[in-house]
Amino acid sequence: MKTLLVVDDEPGVRFSLETVFQRQYRVVAVENGEQAVEALRTESPDLAIVDILMPDMSGLDLLPLLKQEDPQLPVIMLSALKDVSKVVDAIQRGAAQYLTKPFDVDELRLAVRMALRNAGRLNELTALESEMTRWYDTSSIVGESRAWRETLAVAQRAAASPDTTIMLYGESGTGKELLARLIHARSPRRNAPMMPIHCAAVPEALMESELFGHEKGSFTGAMERRRGCVELADTGTLFLDEIGEMPAAMQSKLLRFLQDHEFMRVGGSAILHANVRVIAATNRDLKKGVSEGWFREDLFYRLNVVPITIPPLRDRPEDIPLLVNHYVSHFARECRGAMESVHAAAMEILCNYPWPGNIRELRNVIERAIVLNGAARELTPAHLPAELEGGAAGTSAGPSPASFPVSLQQEVRELETRLIRAALIEAGGNLSQAAVLLQTTRRILKYKIDQLGLD
Ligand SMILES: Nc1ncnc2c1ncn2[C@@H]1O[C@H](COP(=O)(O)OP(=O)(O)OP(=O)(O)O)[C@@H](O)[C@H]1O
Ligand SMILES: [Mg+2]
Repeated sequence: MKTLLVVDDEPGVRFSLETVFQRQYRVVAVENGEQAVEALRTESPDLAIVDILMPDMSGLDLLPLLKQEDPQLPVIMLSALKDVSKVVDAIQRGAAQYLTKPFDVDELRLAVRMALRNAGRLNELTALESEMTRWYDTSSIVGESRAWRETLAVAQRAAASPDTTIMLYGESGTGKELLARLIHARSPRRNAPMMPIHCAAVPEALMESELFGHEKGSFTGAMERRRGCVELADTGTLFLDEIGEMPAAMQSKLLRFLQDHEFMRVGGSAILHANVRVIAATNRDLKKGVSEGWFREDLFYRLNVVPITIPPLRDRPEDIPLLVNHYVSHFARECRGAMESVHAAAMEILCNYPWPGNIRELRNVIERAIVLNGAARELTPAHLPAELEGGAAGTSAGPSPASFPVSLQQEVRELETRLIRAALIEAGGNLSQAAVLLQTTRRILKYKIDQLGLD
């Protein structure tokens, strides 16, 4: 139920407003400006109805104070006299509506409904805006390793030159799209849009229309004229994601566009022009594509002007702890979880894992750990998927003789812990089943668990 704040010095008016609205809204009625500001803080109303003529502080003076506390709050002003200059003044100070007393109940009801609805729209818009800024917010990019800093430096330099074509290479999840966004955001084209097209996701038959748009009636289903990514990206950036998946016919159409920046909509005859910077990305080896015949050589050279390769995470392990901490605080905030630190043993597991899915995989592992363990304050090995514990292939067999001296007792303990945990997870927590998996008895397994202090 929404809350209405009524501010009027006359008890009769407060009473009648309460009577009119109390079935639909929660009504908080106060008698002066001071109480109104207080109520704004404690009751967080969705709308205020404010009388203009009050002894201590007039409604017109109260209005800016309310707006200062809550700029989004819709305020309806009530006054006994219809003084045009007052109306103008009120609207200028941010009032949503101005009604004269004695008020018409239906008119006031309508005014309240309208104002609440408009405020709802405004909230939606603000949410959309913050979503947009987040999309462009590249401040949450993490990495201190030399390899990553070098990549970033090349990207920054290329960003500054607004017409240069950039080709991003990198394994899945290394941050190609993120880097493309960063380049756009740091380029002179930042105030124009960046339009992405995911070449792997668009069906071949629709790709030309996606890229260049179409005229009404140009094919079945083309109900109206539609502009394509190229046209929408005019003066901005065109991001060709997963370019390695682009079908051969489209490769030649794209090449023609890249040569003179001219194109035609599907079914159209006018030659149009778009001024875009092109950033392309792929996790495939395009050069190999050229020699194997699935990627056009001329297109390759058109795109490969400034090639940037993002190193996989396993080649820059120094970045792992930074990313882990970043995502722990990010998801703890997002999910309102309690997680605030990472136990050293968990960090060790995370740092030893080779991360074939790169940063996306790491991000998912942390998100899962936090979502499933909302109350835990510390990330421990128990919160991590069992397969991470294998670490880099081969090391799961324990230390090689070269790393002597080792504590046999300690190593055996760790191996036992790992195997028992894995078996328990596999068995869904069922002790008897886990014992079968470990080829031992339930009693011995129980004893081991107690001895090792596992929970
Ligand atoms: N340096 C970084 N700092 C923080 N987060 C990052 C970084 N690099 C990538 N990420 C995050 O990792 C995830 C994967 O990044 P992105 O989608 O850009 O990768 P990609 O290379 O395009 O992957 P794919 O080839 O699978 O499309 C995203 O959530 C992104 O925000
Ligand atoms: Mg991508």
